[in-house]
Amino acid sequence: MREGPSTFLSAMDLDLSHPAIEDLRRTARHRIPRFVWEYLDSGTGDEASHRANMAALDAVRLRPAILRGTVAPDLSTTIMGRSLSMPVGIAPVGMSGLVWPDAERILARLAAELEVPYGLSTVAAQTPETVGPCAGDQGWFQLYPPGDADIRRDMLARARDAGFHTLVLTADVAVPSRRERQRRSRLTNPMKMTPGIFLQAAMRPRWAVETLRHGKPRLRTLDKYAREDRDMPATGHVGYLLRCAPDWDYVAALRQEWDGSLVVKGVLDPEDAVRLRTAGVDGVWVSNHGGRQFSAAPASLDVLPDVRAAVPEMPVIWDGGVRSGTDVLRAIAFGADLVMLGRAVHYGLAAFGAKGARHVFHILREGMIADMGQMGLARPEEARGRLMTAAPA
Ligand SMILES: Cc1cc2nc3c(=O)[nH]c(=O)nc-3n(C[C@H](O)[C@H](O)[C@H](O)COP(=O)(O)O)c2cc1C
Repeated sequence: MREGPSTFLSAMDLDLSHPAIEDLRRTARHRIPRFVWEYLDSGTGDEASHRANMAALDAVRLRPAILRGTVAPDLSTTIMGRSLSMPVGIAPVGMSGLVWPDAERILARLAAELEVPYGLSTVAAQTPETVGPCAGDQGWFQLYPPGDADIRRDMLARARDAGFHTLVLTADVAVPSRRERQRRSRLTNPMKMTPGIFLQAAMRPRWAVETLRHGKPRLRTLDKYAREDRDMPATGHVGYLLRCAPDWDYVAALRQEWDGSLVVKGVLDPEDAVRLRTAGVDGVWVSNHGGRQFSAAPASLDVLPDVRAAVPEMPVIWDGGVRSGTDVLRAIAFGADLVMLGRAVHYGLAAFGAKGARHVFHILREGMIADMGQMGLARPEEARGRLMTAAPA
């Protein structure tokens, strides 16, 4: 989308007015309707696991170093055979296009430009066909498992044909969660255009106009199957197509049907990681879904060292609460190979469109480079030797 008034903000202006992701978060809140903000920002229940993600990061201390001379930090890395410019990517976010119009294509283009992975959600507002060409060689397709095997195979073929090389099975949404903050804002699933929602949208005219221009956000990848399916429930919501809680047989079927890299997301137990390796999965993604599914779940950082130790040779992807370059280094010190961003990049997007999302990566890159200078590190993974905080037992 056009960048509007923010076009006049140079990258340097943004660096002065919004030097931290928290600054972007504050601006984002005033640019999008309340129900959209609550959808993006909230966790589930009392939000204990969402807060725990950030508290666990805050508690990590890394030992600085002196007298190391000049070091030239190199952030580039390789994961599952592919080179990245830095160990940070964009996690799948359902209905990203509700947060900001055309978000999926904006973020996919940014990922291609920055050479970092972009995860497209099954429940995005765009399809693999429209996003794949924008993502270039950086497309990961996230699967909420369809119950019907024919639909599953068709979806995999669409993702593959559109250029997505990595498949991510999200395994931590066996049932929907309550998301109380979302409910209080009157957001329903499927979304109903009630007077309350209409009023909230009207109070954010720029968001409303651009959203209308791009067409009402909906789960476009599922359109095709909903039209073919005669069992559509009275609610008219196509999400029922995905109400299959996957099991180990499902993982085996995916392994058979998908030639590219296969990652399972939502791993919090080292034993699951070991079993996934045996099942032929290529990477494990440690995540508690940003605290959106289970408020008693552990902080994703706290379980990371045990998962790393259980599958030392496997790529370990991780997410949960990242707000700075320091957080990225903390997660890498705890064993992550690749750190993914859910909310953070959407705060940037909601605040300033594509420019804001790009600024998030700028903040993270500059922050990592500054911290690596403090520790005298040439490469992020050397942070593992600078860990002062004991990993949880
Ligand atoms: C608004 C929103 C929607 C999300 N939708 C999906 C999704 O469709 N599929 C998925 O696997 N994860 C989804 N997630 C979880 C993210 O992929 C990621 O695990 C989480 O956001 C990481 O935490 P962070 O937001 O604190 O970075 C969503 C997260 C948010 C905030």
